[in-house]
Amino acid sequence: MSKVTVIGAGNVGSTVANVLAHRDFLNEIVVLDIKEGTAEGKSLDTWQQAPIDSYSTRVVGCTNDYSKTADSDVVVITSGLPRKPGMSRDDLISVNAGIVKTVTEQVIKYSPKAIIIVVSNPLDVMTYCAYLTAKVDSHRVFGMAGILDTARYRAFLATELNCSPKDIQAILMGGHGDTMVPLPRYTTVSGIPVTELISEEKLNAIVQRTKVGGGEIVNLLGTSAWYAPGAAAAQMVEAIIKNENRIFPVCALLNGEYGLHNIYLGVPVKLGKNGIEQIIELQLNNDEKALLDASATAVKEVMEVLDKMNASAS
Ligand code: NAI
Ligand code: 2OP
Repeated sequence: MSKVTVIGAGNVGSTVANVLAHRDFLNEIVVLDIKEGTAEGKSLDTWQQAPIDSYSTRVVGCTNDYSKTADSDVVVITSGLPRKPGMSRDDLISVNAGIVKTVTEQVIKYSPKAIIIVVSNPLDVMTYCAYLTAKVDSHRVFGMAGILDTARYRAFLATELNCSPKDIQAILMGGHGDTMVPLPRYTTVSGIPVTELISEEKLNAIVQRTKVGGGEIVNLLGTSAWYAPGAAAAQMVEAIIKNENRIFPVCALLNGEYGLHNIYLGVPVKLGKNGIEQIIELQLNNDEKALLDASATAVKEVMEVLDKMNASAS
């Protein structure tokens, strides 16, 4: 019996539930939202899609009733405000920290053994907020961003190379913001180093576009993306429930890895039934390490904002 809860039935949360239902490997998905009727309506819509698309996963929605989420194996937290044009992810911190804290308290109360995947922004700091609230081992609390950011990088490369995105393998590290660190040295196209297929100038332009990839969608839509983010979170859930030991970039707590301490940051990890089974340490060169350190500094500044907010509240 596998049960997954998705908190927040907005654009991202409802997409996570819909993608997971289509994969048909869970017994039940519970979607919870604070807004009356939203989770019920979207869940009913996804359940009514089941006879057409042939899946059996039961999808149910509820309004703020955490008893329905009891004994979930994995909980995906998407509740919070999305970015609006002109807003940075960090502008969201005070509102979303309050939401993530309240939600995590309830999640852990009803599902003390759950693995928690945070999606709410600003991602690295909201993941830290959930970790502080949940008070469980950090291998069970981590964030989704790297799969999405790497997917954007891979999609841009596929467009430029006119090839299938399936054949592009890449890794990206750092915070989920403009300081993220795409790694061309670790990017291949069916095993061929990408640098053999594309000019340095074009590759640099793609790296730059990736860094502001979230903002590009916000400017087009007036709110942030949901299809790729929802699919990315669903891929993490699948790796955990099926114990796949997949290697993904994930926002994880670092305690010494990459020379960094007590910071949530995007790094390659192995994801399996226990959540983060291993943090993988790449042999970064000096330039790559300098970029990762700069990203860590940016994330740490926002983590300190949260620490100060928590200190003044206590
Ligand atoms: P949305 O506005 O469509 O949905 C958010 C939902 O959260 C709403 O339905 C709202 O009623 C609900 N909510 C608010 N407070 C709640 C509470 N206390 N309990 C339960 N539900 C509550 O927003 P969207 O587009 O789904 O984005 C959700 C979050 O995910 C945002 O913070 C956004 O910035 C973030 N995001 C993160 C990405 C990443 O890569 N980590 C990618 C895309 C979005
Ligand atoms: C994204 O990257 C805004 O974090 C959101 O699409």
